[in-house]
Amino acid sequence: MAVIFAVANQKGGVGKTTTSVNLAASLAAAEVSVLLVDCDPQGNATSGTGVSRGSVERSTYDVLLGQCTLAEAIVSTPVKGLDIVPATQDLVAAELELVDLADRATRLRAALETLGDRYDFVILDCPPSLGLLTVNALSAADRVIVPLQCEYFALEGLTHLMATIDRIKGAFNPDLAVEGVVLTMFDGRNSLTHQVADEVRDHFRVYSTVIPRNVRLSEAPSHGVPALLYDAQSRGAQAYLGLAREILESFPKKEPEPEKAREPAPEEPEQAAEPEPEKPTKPARPAKGSAKASAKAERKAG
Ligand SMILES: Nc1ncnc2c1ncn2[C@@H]1O[C@H](COP(=O)(O)OP(=O)(O)OP(=O)(O)O)[C@@H](O)[C@H]1O
Ligand SMILES: [Mg+2]
Repeated sequence: MAVIFAVANQKGGVGKTTTSVNLAASLAAAEVSVLLVDCDPQGNATSGTGVSRGSVERSTYDVLLGQCTLAEAIVSTPVKGLDIVPATQDLVAAELELVDLADRATRLRAALETLGDRYDFVILDCPPSLGLLTVNALSAADRVIVPLQCEYFALEGLTHLMATIDRIKGAFNPDLAVEGVVLTMFDGRNSLTHQVADEVRDHFRVYSTVIPRNVRLSEAPSHGVPALLYDAQSRGAQAYLGLAREILESFPKKEPEPEKAREPAPEEPEQAAEPEPEKPTKPARPAKGSAKASAKAERKAG
């Protein structure tokens, strides 16, 4: 299964979508496969990865309402290794339409489970609220990444988010945890910025990569590409590459398993050869005989 990150903060405009899109692109650049799921009716992650909202046939709304499978809603982006499940305004209605369903909080999780190991990472871009869409993302996620702008009320907002995370943990997702706080639109010349940052560090893991305020990050969405494809050398694009590196240190890329499986283990030939003498001659018994043989081999291996 993929590692699933929800990028969440109910405060608006703190850099959730910028972080979702650019982190997803930076992970993909490190040759891991990434699925971005736009969970926000504003659809900013969708347009920010070059998918025009008018062209969307199936979206997060259809997935949540069971009108298509998650796989059917996936579209590719201009970034190699990065796919997206797009969102449109329709998603506003999902909050209302889901409300009467018993499994309303866990529908996204159920949909993501159908993907198996198709992706290494899934990134869920949450809307600026703690409604059912964010609840679905938090129920589905392994970890939460919290973009935070170092402003006076930032910590107050974090308290609300933590209370929601605790509720989701209790009700749907006992292993949910905050992976880290990423400081966004960071302005090191402002002394309040440092005060807030220090206070956040007292309570949470704060990524050592901070995202500076950088005009390229705000320009890139209007070109429908992550900053990495718009201006790879910009401070913004480089910062998100740094954040991706930090995340990959905690969640290293999985080694491809089929290669491993083909390598014969040193004892294997011996085990395979050993049961031979017991091989029954009658056609009816081979299944039984080989089961016995493999049980014996297993006992030996154990
Ligand atoms: N590091 C940055 N430097 C400059 N501009 C930024 C940076 N991060 C985000 N922005 C800009 O700030 C605005 C808000 O960012 P973004 O859309 O990522 O926030 P959000 O938390 O997703 O917002 P919402 O709560 O509405 O979903 C956007 O115009 C974006 O381009
Ligand atoms: Mg957003």
